[in-house]
Amino acid sequence: MNQERLLKIANLIEQNSIVADIGTDHGLIPIFLSENNIAKKIIASDISGKSLSKLVDKIYNNPYMSNIETRVSDGLNEYKLFEADTIIVSGMGGILITKILNDNLEIAKSANNLVLQANNGLYELRKFLHENGFAIIDEDDVIENKKYYQIIKTKVGLEKYEKKEEYYFGRVLIKKKSKNLELYIDKLINDNKKLMKELNILGNKSIKDRITDIKKENLFYENVRKNLEN
Ligand SMILES: C[S@@+](CC[C@H](N)C(=O)[O-])C[C@H]1O[C@@H](n2cnc3c(N)ncnc32)[C@H](O)[C@@H]1O
Repeated sequence: MNQERLLKIANLIEQNSIVADIGTDHGLIPIFLSENNIAKKIIASDISGKSLSKLVDKIYNNPYMSNIETRVSDGLNEYKLFEADTIIVSGMGGILITKILNDNLEIAKSANNLVLQANNGLYELRKFLHENGFAIIDEDDVIENKKYYQIIKTKVGLEKYEKKEEYYFGRVLIKKKSKNLELYIDKLINDNKKLMKELNILGNKSIKDRITDIKKENLFYENVRKNLEN
């Protein structure tokens, strides 16, 4: 697991909280939270017992990690209401994260806050949160190994955004004028420009329509980018 993304997730966790890490894999987030005394207790769960077994071995050999409990669970299925102050779901697709939350909405809402890092589907994830009684209270982002990640902190509340870019790229990150977001949008614009050059060479009717769509997309990106400039 990359360290920068891990640090950004950990920074959004409140001190001394009881944390549930859903889809923990080998438990790098729980180990980090335990070693740095960020969480009082961590429940590390995964749908795969095989993935969890590496963490189980580490805990067994290390008395300092006695505040980590492991559990095989599909999403929040094996959790009780109010069991965790903070629920982390990270390193998965946005659609899978919405499914995990939707399957056990009351349990998700019984936490004080949730820290979500989706690898894709950020638009759908933010829409889902607003349509299901959550407000987005903070966001952070990071570029690591040339990949751009956004992290959302959310809690029960009523909120709606007016603009579609706020669902795609994050109102909080736009307001913060995130430099990482600016770089990411530059990359989207440049990738589209390269694609248009390649398509222009081919030049038939359906490709012309596609080029028109890409131009519109770049206008959208360029407008968002303007808001990120100082
Ligand atoms: C790419 S890893 C992410 C690990 C870690 N959370 C991170 O951010 O680096 C995805 C993990 O999610 C687990 N997973 C997938 N679907 C799940 C579900 N429905 N419930 C719990 N865990 C799930 C997989 O078994 C895998 O270990």
